[in-house]
Amino acid sequence: MYSISALTLLLLSIRPSFGIPPPDFGFPEAPNDTALTVIFQDNGSPISVSEGQLFGVNVPSQEPTVAVDPSSFESIADYNGSYALIMVDPDARYPQAPTSRFILHWLQFNLTTAPASDDGTTQLVNSTAPQAPYRGPAPPTNSSAHRYILYAFFQHENFTFPQAYEGYNATNRTSFNLTDFLDQSNLGPSPAAANYFYASNETAVPPDFIAAAGATYPGGNGEMITAGPGPSITPSSTPATATASTTGSAPTTTFTGGASVARGGMAWLACPMVILNLL
Ligand SMILES: *[C@@H]1O[C@H](CO)[C@@H](O)[C@H](O)[C@H]1NC(C)=O
Ligand SMILES: *[C@@H]1O[C@H](CO)[C@@H](O)[C@H](O)[C@H]1NC(C)=O
Ligand SMILES: *[C@@H]1O[C@H](CO)[C@@H](O)[C@H](O)[C@H]1NC(C)=O
Ligand SMILES: *[C@@H]1O[C@H](CO)[C@@H](O)[C@H](O)[C@H]1NC(C)=O
Ligand SMILES: *[C@@H]1O[C@H](CO)[C@@H](O)[C@H](O)[C@H]1NC(C)=O
Ligand SMILES: *[C@@H]1O[C@H](CO)[C@@H](O)[C@H](O)[C@H]1NC(C)=O
Ligand SMILES: *[C@@H]1O[C@H](CO)[C@@H](O)[C@H](O)[C@H]1NC(C)=O
Ligand SMILES: *[C@@H]1O[C@H](CO)[C@@H](O)[C@H](O)[C@H]1NC(C)=O
Ligand SMILES: *[C@@H]1O[C@H](CO)[C@@H](O)[C@H](O)[C@H]1NC(C)=O
Ligand SMILES: *[C@@H]1O[C@H](CO)[C@@H](O)[C@H](O)[C@H]1NC(C)=O
Repeated sequence: MYSISALTLLLLSIRPSFGIPPPDFGFPEAPNDTALTVIFQDNGSPISVSEGQLFGVNVPSQEPTVAVDPSSFESIADYNGSYALIMVDPDARYPQAPTSRFILHWLQFNLTTAPASDDGTTQLVNSTAPQAPYRGPAPPTNSSAHRYILYAFFQHENFTFPQAYEGYNATNRTSFNLTDFLDQSNLGPSPAAANYFYASNETAVPPDFIAAAGATYPGGNGEMITAGPGPSITPSSTPATATASTTGSAPTTTFTGGASVARGGMAWLACPMVILNLL
C-alpha cells in the first residue's frame, strides 16, 4: 500500500520540466519552469501571480514588483549581472485577430538584484528610468481575455539598445517585434525567467469563469469568456501552496480576485487524486 503523500512525491519527482509560457504559445519561453515572481498589490494585499492566473483589469493595473529565485534554479544562481524586463500582450486587439501584436506593456533595463529575501527570491530593482513605463492590461470589452507575458532576460555586456526601437516609448506601444528586438539587442532568444497571466476587461473575475470549449487558453478560440462550471480553470480559493512547485517561489498570500488555469504542477498534483479514485 502506498500512502497518498508517497504517491504524490513519486509523481512529482518524475514531473517533466516545462517552459514558461507553455511552448504551444509559440513565444520565447524560460526553460525548466524558471518562474519570474510577479507581485501585484490589491488594495494593499500582495498577490503573487501563479502561471496562467486570470484577473480582471483592477489587480494588474499598477506596476508589480518582480523577483527571481536563484536559490531554486542553477541557471540563475551564479548570475550577478543586470536583467532586462519585457512585458508584452500578444493578443491585441483580439486573440483571434492579433493585428497589434505585440503591445509593449513594460520595457526596463539595468535591473539589479536586491539582497535575497527569506523565501530565497531576490527582487529586481531599477536604477534607471524605464524605456517604456508599466502600462496595465486594457483589453476591449468585446474581447476574450488577453495573455500578458513578463520576461526577465540576462542583460549581458554585449547588450545594445537597437536604434530602430527608439520610437517605442510611453505612447507608442503597438506592433513591437519581440523576435527582432531580442535579436538586435543581443538579449538572445531564451529568457532567464518568465511568468504570464490573463486579464479580461471585467473589473472582477468570478471564480467560475471557464474557457470556451476547444480553447488552449481562456477564450483562446476567440469566444467570450463565460461564467459557469468548467474543467479548465480552478477556483480562486485554490491554496497558494498548490502552485508553489510550478512558480518556483512559495507565496504566503491568499489569492483573491483571480482564477488559475490548471497546468504543469497543478495538473500533476491532481493526478494522485484521480489514480486513488480509480483504485
Ligand atoms: C531545473 O529545475 C530544478 C527543479 O526546480 C532545479 O533544481 C534546477 O536547478 C533547475 N536547473 C537549472 C539549470 O536551473
Ligand atoms: C560577478 O562575479 C564575478 C566573479 O565572482 C566578478 O568577477 C564580477 O565582478 C561580478 N560582477 C558584478 C557586476 O558584480
Ligand atoms: C543602463 O545603465 C548604464 C550605466 O549605468 C547607462 O549608460 C545606460 O544608459 C542604461 N541603459 C538604459 C537602457 O537605461
Ligand atoms: C524606476 O522605475 C520607476 C517606475 O517604473 C520610475 O518612477 C523611477 O524613476 C525609476 N527609477 C530611476 C532611478 O530611474
Ligand atoms: C474595457 O473595454 C472598453 C472598450 O474597449 C474600454 O473603453 C474600457 O476602457 C475597458 N475597460 C478597462 C477597465 O480597461
Ligand atoms: C468589438 O467592438 C468594436 C466596436 O464596436 C468593433 O469595431 C469590433 O469589430 C468588435 N470586435 C469583435 C471581435 O467583436
Ligand atoms: C512606433 O515606433 C515604431 C518604431 O520607431 C514605428 O515603426 C511605428 O510606426 C510607431 N508606431 C506608432 C503608432 O507611432
Ligand atoms: C513616442 O513615439 C511616437 C511615435 O514614434 C512619437 O510620435 C512621440 O513623440 C514619442 N513620444 C515621446 C514622449 O518621446
Ligand atoms: C519581426 O522581425 C523578424 C526578424 O527581423 C522578421 O522576420 C519578421 O517578419 C518581423 N515580424 C513582423 C510582424 O514584422
Ligand atoms: C552575448 O553575451 C553572452 C554572454 O557572454 C553570450 O552568451 C551571447 O552569445 C552573446 N550574444 C551575442 C549575439 O554575441
